[in-house]
Amino acid sequence: MGRAAARGCRLWGLLLVLPLWEAVAAAPARPAAAPLLCNVSLDSPAEERWLPVLRHFDPAFLRAAVARVIDESVPKWVHEVIRLIAAELEVFMPQPFAGEILGMCKALGISLGDGVLLNFAYESTAFCTSIVAQDDKGNIYHGRNLDYDFVDILSKITIDVRFIKSGQIAYQGTTFLGYVGLWTGQSPHKFTISGDERAGGRWWENAIAAFLNRNYPVSWLVRDTLSRAEDFQSAVLRLAGIPIIAEVYYIVGGVSPKEGMVITRNRRGPADLWPLDPLSGAWFRVETNYDHWTTPPPFDDRRTAAIKALNATGQLNINFDTLFKVLSVKPVLNNNTVYTTVMSAALPDKYQTWIRTVE
Ligand SMILES: *[C@@H]1O[C@H](CO)[C@@H](O)[C@H](O)[C@H]1NC(C)=O
Ligand SMILES: *[C@@H]1O[C@H](CO)[C@@H](O)[C@H](O)[C@H]1NC(C)=O
Ligand SMILES: *[C@@H]1O[C@H](CO)[C@@H](O)[C@H](O)[C@H]1NC(C)=O
Repeated sequence: MGRAAARGCRLWGLLLVLPLWEAVAAAPARPAAAPLLCNVSLDSPAEERWLPVLRHFDPAFLRAAVARVIDESVPKWVHEVIRLIAAELEVFMPQPFAGEILGMCKALGISLGDGVLLNFAYESTAFCTSIVAQDDKGNIYHGRNLDYDFVDILSKITIDVRFIKSGQIAYQGTTFLGYVGLWTGQSPHKFTISGDERAGGRWWENAIAAFLNRNYPVSWLVRDTLSRAEDFQSAVLRLAGIPIIAEVYYIVGGVSPKEGMVITRNRRGPADLWPLDPLSGAWFRVETNYDHWTTPPPFDDRRTAAIKALNATGQLNINFDTLFKVLSVKPVLNNNTVYTTVMSAALPDKYQTWIRTVE
């Protein structure tokens, strides 16, 4: 695995520098590629720890990507407000997030305001499918599709990151280069987390007010929980209770039977907790972007498709491969799916992400 990882790293670096070769590599009808696997040292100062990762990417491509994402997803008034207060923003950001964003902005020559906006921009439109399931032996599996606009850009900067402390993997996750929070992650032998957007409305106004009130961006709470929580229970408590800047669904998997939960979040606290209930036949939970007690709109019913596929798979047969297949059924897999991750905290080495593109 280590060797393949190191090769993947170099391969992606080259792909970004040589677009021609990329076109060749993308030729198969439905390519699914493992992303760049990076090590980020938590023992290095926050401002420096991402610099080795940045070296694998073309800075001009990254600057253009930042400009496009901000231009197309951030309202002009937000951009201006953030520009005006950029110098003071650092004070409002907890570590290590402030230092990491600052370090990358300096290295790339982009403003701190733009770096912060980038770290917010994704939060407004991330659509997703998350599944937590328990097999007949009590093993917990957790999978997710991350769907988003800008698939063309994001698929090129999707990375798997292992956060290393004293030579050990403290936690790991999947993210977009430059984005210091995590929508998908694993604390080895403890728990796994994914986040799915919950539509909030008037998103930016509320988010900025909450941020200045020192609430966490939702993906920062995921990373913070991965770094601090000791087990499934304490992860659920943190994810359910700590104030955040936008509504969200957190899906959590553990290492023991029944350790699976969908947390529906308001900004201030939990709206609902929906656990696995395998003794009553509920051996999986599916969360897309609608409250589980409501019916999804007919134009975006990824939920029913996922449930049908899980029913057809059956509890006896659920595993990493079959969960990946469920996440490959249309429209669970769709034109906006950037990546699929399957994971199980009890088997941390099996953490696997695939970058997806649908023809
Ligand atoms: C990350 O560290 C592991 C050892 O912990 C090593 O096997 C792997 O090659 C490293 N990956 C990169 C991209 O340097
Ligand atoms: C899945 O199976 C359950 C239990 O048999 C059933 O109640 C449900 O209607 C099925 N859902 C779909 C979408 O097939
Ligand atoms: C996905 O993209 C393909 C080709 O770009 C298009 O033909 C298809 O209709 C799209 N599917 C959806 C669900 O939008």
